[in-house]
Amino acid sequence: MPETVRFLLRGEVVTVGPELPHTTTVLDYLRLKQRLCGTKEGCAEGDCGACTVAVADLDGDKLRYRAVNSCIQLVGQLDGKALVTVEDLAPDEPGGDALHPVQQAMVDCHGSQCGFCTPGFVMSLFAHYKTGTPTDTDSLCDTLAGNLCRCTGYRPILEAGQTMGAAPDRFSALEAAWIGKLKGLKRREGLRQETPAGRFLAPISLDELMTLLRGVDWDDTWVLGGGTDVGLWITKQHRRIGTILHLGQIAALKRVEILPDEVSIGASVTYTDAMPAIAALHPDFAAMVRRLGSVQIRNAGTIGGNIANGSPIGDSMPPLIALGARLQLLSPGGERFLPLDEFFLGYRKTYLRPRGVVAKVIVPRPGPESRFAVYKLSKRLDQDISAVLGAFHVIMEGNRIASARIAYGGMAAIPQRAHAAELALQGQKLTTEAVEPAVAALAQDFTPMSDMRASARYRLLAAQNLLRKFAAEQQTGAQIRIEAPIEQVAE
Ligand SMILES: Cc1cc2nc3c(=O)[nH]c(=O)nc-3n(C[C@H](O)[C@H](O)[C@H](O)COP(=O)(O)OP(=O)(O)OC[C@H]3O[C@@H](n4cnc5c(N)ncnc54)[C@H](O)[C@@H]3O)c2cc1C
Ligand code: FES
Ligand code: FES
Repeated sequence: MPETVRFLLRGEVVTVGPELPHTTTVLDYLRLKQRLCGTKEGCAEGDCGACTVAVADLDGDKLRYRAVNSCIQLVGQLDGKALVTVEDLAPDEPGGDALHPVQQAMVDCHGSQCGFCTPGFVMSLFAHYKTGTPTDTDSLCDTLAGNLCRCTGYRPILEAGQTMGAAPDRFSALEAAWIGKLKGLKRREGLRQETPAGRFLAPISLDELMTLLRGVDWDDTWVLGGGTDVGLWITKQHRRIGTILHLGQIAALKRVEILPDEVSIGASVTYTDAMPAIAALHPDFAAMVRRLGSVQIRNAGTIGGNIANGSPIGDSMPPLIALGARLQLLSPGGERFLPLDEFFLGYRKTYLRPRGVVAKVIVPRPGPESRFAVYKLSKRLDQDISAVLGAFHVIMEGNRIASARIAYGGMAAIPQRAHAAELALQGQKLTTEAVEPAVAALAQDFTPMSDMRASARYRLLAAQNLLRKFAAEQQTGAQIRIEAPIEQVAE
C-alpha cells in the first residue's frame, strides 16, 4: 500500500496519497484540490508573499507557527504538521464569523485596497502574532519584507501590525486539541508516497536515510531540504523529478549544538532555527542572515540547502568559509568530513553529487584574537540576491595579522577564498594603509563577470572597498554603515 501524506487542514486530519503528483505545491493543493482560493498566486517563486500560509508544528508541548510561501512548498513537506490558511482566521461556521484581531487591525488601519496581496500580509502578521514577536517597526518590517503590495502602501499595514495586539485568539483555544492530533500523526517510520508521476520519500532517521542512499537511482533523485531552491525548479523550470528525498523530518539533521569552541548546525535546520547558533558565531553573521531572503524563506530554507545548491551568490558560504567551517557528509560509504572551501568544484558543481548528502556544518567559534565581519551588497536591503558578499576573518598576534581568511560570493563561479589577498595581509597591521597591498591583490584573486546584478568593474571595486571598510572599522572601532537605516526604509 502506498503511504499517504497526513496533516491538519482546518483542524482536521487530511490525507494525500497517489492521486496527487509528488511535486504538487501546497498552493496548488489549496486552490485546485481544496478550492480554498483565499491564498493567492503572484509570482510562484517565493518573492511576493501573496501565497503566504502558516504552518504549525510541535515544539515540545507547544505549537510553533511559521509563515511560509505555499507556492514553493510541496504537500509532502506538510506531513505531521498543521496548515493554517486565511480561510481559517474567521471561519465560515456558527460563531466563527468574527474577524481575527489581525484582520480587524487591517480593516481599522485601511491596510487593503485591491486586496490581492492582503491574504498574504494577513498570514505573515498572523504568524508574527502567534509567535509573540514584538511589534516594533524593525520587527514588523522584517516580518513583512517578503510581502509586496502595489497599491495600499506599507504604512497602514505596519500600523495594523502595531495595533493588532497579542490577546489569546481562537487558535489558543484549539491548541490542546491540535497538539493531541499532531501527536497522533507522529510516524514510526518514514513517509513513502508513491504516485504515478514519482515518489516523495521522507525518512525520519539516519538509518532509514542510509538505506535509501544505498538504494536510490541518483539520475532520477533529488534531495529536498526546505525547497526554496527546488520549489522553483518545479514552478518555473517544470523540471521532472522522479524521486524526491526530503531530509526535513530527520531529527538528527535538525540539531543545533552551541559548544564553547564550535557550533554545529544540522543540514535540515532552517535559517530561523539556526539564528541563535549563527549569532553565537558572530553578531555580524546573524545580521547578514537577517537580510537573506524573507522571513518566509528563512522559515523554510536551510544552510544545508544553500551549501549543496552551490550557487556562487549563496550568502551563507563566504562567512562559513572565512570562519573555517567543515562539513559532515553522508554517503553509502559512510561519513566523511571536508573543509567547506574544498566542497565547490566549479559553477554549481560540488564534491557531493551523486555521492550523498550534507549532514551538518561545523564551525569553529572565533576566539578573542579574531576579527570578523561580513558585508552583503545588494540593490535592496531585504529580500534581494547579493551582487557581492565579502567575509573577513583575521587572527591577530599583538597588533599584527597572524593569519587571514577572506571569502567572497559573486566574484567567481564558486564562493571563493582570496588567497593572494590573505597572503598579503600576513604580518601586516590591520589599518587602512597596511591593507592596501591586499586590496591590490584582490585583482589577482578574481576576474569577476558582468551580469544583471553588477558589472565586473563594480564587483572588483566593491570587493576592494569592502576590505578597506573592514580595516577601517577595525582600526576605528566604528561601524561604517552602507545601508539605509530600517526606519528610513519603512517610510
Ligand atoms: C525569494 C527567494 C529569496 C532568496 N534569497 C536568498 C538570499 O538572499 N541569499 C541566498 O543565499 N539565497 C537566497 N535564496 C535561495 C535559497 O533560499 C537558499 O539557497 C536556501 O538556503 C536553500 O535551502 P533549501 O533548504 O530551501 O534548499 P532546497 O531548495 O531544498 O535545495 C537546494 C539544493 O540543495 C540540495 N540539497 C538540499 N539539502 C541538501 C542536503 N542536506 N544534502 C545534499 N543536498 C541538499 C537540493 O537537492 C538542491 O540541489 C532565495 C530563494 C528565494 C526563493
Ligand atoms: S506566489 Fe509570490 S511568493 Fe508565492
Ligand atoms: S492592496 Fe493591492 S496589491 Fe496590496
